[in-house]
Amino acid sequence: MRMLAIETSCDETAASVAATGPRILSSAVYSQIDRHRPYGGVVPEIASRDHLRKLPSILEQALRDADCGWGDIDALAVTRGPGLASSLLVGLSAAWGLKLRLGVPLYGVNHLEAHLLSTFLPENAPDPEEACPMLTLLVSGGHTALVRVDGPGAYRVLGRTLDDAAGEALDKGATLMGLGYPGGPAIERAARGGDPHALAFPLGRGGERSQPSGSLDPRLCFSFSGLKTSLLYRLRDDPGLARGDALKDLAASYEYAVCEALALRVERACREPSIRSLACSGGVARNRRLRARLEQIAAEAGRPVCHAPPEYCTDNAAMIAGAALSGIERDAAVRDPQDIDPVLGV
Ligand code: KG4
Ligand code: ZN
Repeated sequence: MRMLAIETSCDETAASVAATGPRILSSAVYSQIDRHRPYGGVVPEIASRDHLRKLPSILEQALRDADCGWGDIDALAVTRGPGLASSLLVGLSAAWGLKLRLGVPLYGVNHLEAHLLSTFLPENAPDPEEACPMLTLLVSGGHTALVRVDGPGAYRVLGRTLDDAAGEALDKGATLMGLGYPGGPAIERAARGGDPHALAFPLGRGGERSQPSGSLDPRLCFSFSGLKTSLLYRLRDDPGLARGDALKDLAASYEYAVCEALALRVERACREPSIRSLACSGGVARNRRLRARLEQIAAEAGRPVCHAPPEYCTDNAAMIAGAALSGIERDAAVRDPQDIDPVLGV
């Protein structure tokens, strides 16, 4: 089966062709970052207009890169949420149009499940049978959760953020430091050569005193709002912290606090004896400090770590194709989705 997948949930316009396996044959991604940068964040109307402008050429690029034509496509997949409603609508409308024209089935994919399964996309990826139960840290611009993956389709959210997502904390922190958007890569760059212990920031222990809903463990929940406020007050007291060499230390200390807040909960969850491996996915999983820290935790716990490759961490359509193919294999795929409401949770 050849699957053509579309992803337009936020500010990346992406298309991918994949064969059963999954074997990724192409992954075309257009990032709108330059368009949103002047506003310091994603502007929904600009995002949806840009998806509309770019999606046709990205679809053609995905087909060209996979060396196939429209007639070779056996099925379509599209992100149905969570995401920005107006951005999702562009991908969904295009997918429905293609479905009617090509006469092939269309599958709807949960964006967060796709991030979780991106660990299994590379050719040398671990076999889920051997790697699961896997503890996956899902860290993106909109979501932060610690998920136990018992296998494709079997997920249990152990903890999640009670306020901001990790990526959001980095994006907002970077704005306060005058580093621009997107904040994660900007802070990582600014932190080079800085001292991560120069300034102490809170590690979000507030979450531990909370009473999260359902079966969530408060000790595995995250909270980043105190960190952001702490940065705001520090800069208000001493604006010089955002200039020259002091900025390096500030960025390094803030990056360290975000990574440690994540690592602390991962370390705790990793103590569960049935966990066989550790993984990290979503845009923030590109961060080198975080990757190194998780590798250290995994080594200490004597478990392998399976990071999604950087190109599959930030939003892309290969992970949408992978999740759809996995759903079909398990007979659990959502076919011809009419419901475009953002799907919350995993
Ligand atoms: O997964 P993603 O592309 O989009 C969502 O689904 O949200 O994640 C985007 C987030 C942004 O907050 C961005 O600042 C962060 O990922 N990010 C990073 C890095 N690259 C992207 N954070 C830390 N370090 C990076 N290198
Ligand atoms: Zn995402």
